[in-house]
Amino acid sequence: MDKVVLAFSGGLDTTVCVKLLEEEYNMEVITACVDVGQGDAEMEKAATMAKKIGSSKHYNIDAKEEFANEYISRGIKANAEYEGYPLSTALARPLIAKKIIEVGEKEGAKAIAHGCTGKGNDQFRFEAVILAMSDFDIVAPIRERNLTRTEEQAYVAEKNLELSYDKIYSIDENIWGRAIEGDILESPANQPPEDIYEWTYSWENAKDTPQKVSIEFEEGVPIAINGEMKPLIEIIKEANKIAGENGIGRVDIIENRMIGLKSREIYEVPGAKLLITAHKALEELVLTVDEIRFKEYMSTLYADLVYRALWQEPLREDLDQAFDQMQRRVSGEVELVLFKGSIRPVTRKSPFSLHSVEQISFEDKETDQREVEGMIKYHGLQAANYQKLSR
Ligand code: ARG
Repeated sequence: MDKVVLAFSGGLDTTVCVKLLEEEYNMEVITACVDVGQGDAEMEKAATMAKKIGSSKHYNIDAKEEFANEYISRGIKANAEYEGYPLSTALARPLIAKKIIEVGEKEGAKAIAHGCTGKGNDQFRFEAVILAMSDFDIVAPIRERNLTRTEEQAYVAEKNLELSYDKIYSIDENIWGRAIEGDILESPANQPPEDIYEWTYSWENAKDTPQKVSIEFEEGVPIAINGEMKPLIEIIKEANKIAGENGIGRVDIIENRMIGLKSREIYEVPGAKLLITAHKALEELVLTVDEIRFKEYMSTLYADLVYRALWQEPLREDLDQAFDQMQRRVSGEVELVLFKGSIRPVTRKSPFSLHSVEQISFEDKETDQREVEGMIKYHGLQAANYQKLSR
């Protein structure tokens, strides 16, 4: 029997995949769950479930630190957001694929399997990495059988698989965010029920007084929160908690998926929103106007590449290098006030500040106002000539 390594989460799709791979594809199934911060309970559930449904061997792989340090840190430096979504799922997929490939190599597997449907972006993200980095066959049982969620549920019941929890929605969670899809959320005409949210408080329940928080950066990466130096992963967790309690980080958008579908997507990304807002506030102080304008363009380009499964694209690496170069001056501290879903930076400090309190002051005589006269005279010279034509 050929061995297949399945990227396993313990959710509906991947549970169905284990049985299908065994019974319909006649393969020996090895399951691997990559921990990118979905929580210890989820990881345990995955391991228990894998054993229960007959995976021949199960791996729980801790990739949390690597996710924070090698992927999320790049997302922060880039201010990477796709249509307002900080790419939590999209950034994790290349890393998960990489880890699954490692298991496949260790186990001498023939193929790698995933539980993605044929409608989303994740199938592209997994397969792009597998194709670029390995020679494994790829098996996608849900897509290959064109299964619906209801059919999957029926299959689970028929095989007595008993999911350890009963989820209506398709949820993907890691330390950078939580994506909630499916069921009544599919229609943009339905307001999401309050109980889908787990990381963020409603406006009503968010704290009633504004809360101040400070974030310190070194070369574009957060190194401290509220004055306490911590590893990035801890800062993200803390940021999720603080921002979530203040009702920050609910994203409800009509997203443009890779295959052209428009999709109503809901995310909880409190820490990502807080850290990216703080990062941009610091960049305002230390980057030049040209750097900032160009960066906006590069950010969009970068987010598109990450979203559209092009992590392997050299331009992604080129952009990362350009960001690293620019970020050498993005060190300093930002204080922000959080209140009922809003974030406002209130102070910014940096040894690399390009802002001069002296120069901007109304009291300053050093920057001689009279010298600007000549500059104004020739500013817009072509526009003035154009207007004169019809005068
Ligand atoms: N739409 C998002 C993306 O493409 C989130 C996907 C979430 N995946 C899931 N299996 N629920 O990045």
